[in-house]
Amino acid sequence: MSSCLDAARPEAAQAGTSRFRPAIHFTARDTWLNDPNGLVFYDGLYHLFFQNNPFGNVWGNMSWGHATSRDLLHWTEHPVAIACDEAEDIFSGSVVVDHGNTSGFGTADAPALVAIYTSAYKDASEHSGTQAQSLAYSTDAGMTWRKYEGNPVLTRNSANFRDPKVFRYQGDQGACWVMVAVEAHHQKVVFYRSEDLKSWDFLSDFGPANADAGDWECPDLFPLAVDGDPDNIKWVLIVNVNPGAVAGGSGGQYFIGDFDGARFLPDAGSLAAPTGLTSLQDPKAGSAALQQCLWLDWGRDCYASVSFSNAPHDRRIIIGWMNNWEYANHLPTAPWRSSMTLARELCLTAVNGSARLIQQPVLAEPCAGEDLPTAKDQMSAGSFELRNSALQLPDAVPGSAQIIEAEILPGSAERCDFQLFASSDGSKGTILSYNTSSAQLILDRRQSGNTGFHGKFASVESAPVELEDGVLKLVIIVDHSSVEVFAQGGKVVMTDLIFPETENRENWLSAVEGSATILKLAVSTLT
Ligand code: FRU
Repeated sequence: MSSCLDAARPEAAQAGTSRFRPAIHFTARDTWLNDPNGLVFYDGLYHLFFQNNPFGNVWGNMSWGHATSRDLLHWTEHPVAIACDEAEDIFSGSVVVDHGNTSGFGTADAPALVAIYTSAYKDASEHSGTQAQSLAYSTDAGMTWRKYEGNPVLTRNSANFRDPKVFRYQGDQGACWVMVAVEAHHQKVVFYRSEDLKSWDFLSDFGPANADAGDWECPDLFPLAVDGDPDNIKWVLIVNVNPGAVAGGSGGQYFIGDFDGARFLPDAGSLAAPTGLTSLQDPKAGSAALQQCLWLDWGRDCYASVSFSNAPHDRRIIIGWMNNWEYANHLPTAPWRSSMTLARELCLTAVNGSARLIQQPVLAEPCAGEDLPTAKDQMSAGSFELRNSALQLPDAVPGSAQIIEAEILPGSAERCDFQLFASSDGSKGTILSYNTSSAQLILDRRQSGNTGFHGKFASVESAPVELEDGVLKLVIIVDHSSVEVFAQGGKVVMTDLIFPETENRENWLSAVEGSATILKLAVSTLT
């Protein structure tokens, strides 16, 4: 069967919007991307496969693109890994390293990488109208892929059965493969097990629960030790939802619970009150209820987050798609469209007695090699006071991203504001604001630049953030078209795209209506 790639690749369009191209976030060179797929670490390289339209910069012709990195910041794009054809589009899925050669695709000494992806069947297929799970494998460390002739390996005769995430489960009875996937329209995660990745047995399902107004997509399930305690392991179930996320449109929620090899049991503390969630027609009740759910990210632009297989030192690292289906196809960039979030390392910590995720951006990989750029300091300041006044931070250097770290005692100030990408007269910019009386962190992109390309883009996001010993801790990463905020050591994360009209990359910090003590302010730059 001929693949989509047999068609001629169009010449790349003129790069008119190159100033929006991020410095340290992955974009495809000249095409569209959405979900990260098949995240896997193998032989010193992080592999990022991704939903890709090899022929254009809107969604379509879904295939798996491919990129690799040593440090999760600087990526090299490779040829399309798994291409669509007349019979199927290649939807989202995962990759495992088949160390025990359970599939027979490799050898005991040279394990195959096995991709488990969703075949979204087209009219030309005998399975037309259904989505089912299929395999492809690589015996050259992920660079080329061959589809398994026995595909599909798992079908439910369903039109919306997709996004398999497979991992090795080690239980009392031995090890097996476990798949988590979704019945998207039924807001269900479905669990299967297999000995050889080819034949699958149903285990159980979970859902609907918490944010259940939209499709459930791209699930993930993994164990983590709470505060590093190996005797206190909890399981995290990630479920992406579209639409109906806390900031509107697409977003990622999670549940904390236990998994016994067959069934996921959520902790009572990770389930929101059952009322209001489905009644999003009543936006006030709906949004209050959504605030009770657990969110990976409170911004508009973090979707389809899933974790790496086989990451070194058992680290749990996720990447999300930095976009929102509400306007994804309209972002004002060409010839590329869309980018990934930074990689984020996940840990669990106890918050008021319940395990909760914390996330840290991965900004340095010790083993990546010395030839890759690392962050360079621009300023570092100790304790000082701001009273109804503003301080200018170093400008971002063109071609680089900026990392702003701050520890602030808001004191009597009503607000502490960062103004990012500010225009010289101060009238434009993206505002990240901490409001002391409401204890909310607010990201306002209404004046961030070009917001007119879609009616739903101009927006204000907010998340509850409690001060800790009176202190607000922020890490803000500003790239050419994004702002990612990690508050209180990563307990709250917010990600928004921005498309500044100004070439100005001025940043300001101000204390409004009172005085705040800036305990620490450090700015660094990363190319
Ligand atoms: C999520 C998603 C997945 C699907 C893929 C198709 O963004 O809708 O459920 O596999 O995108 O591109």
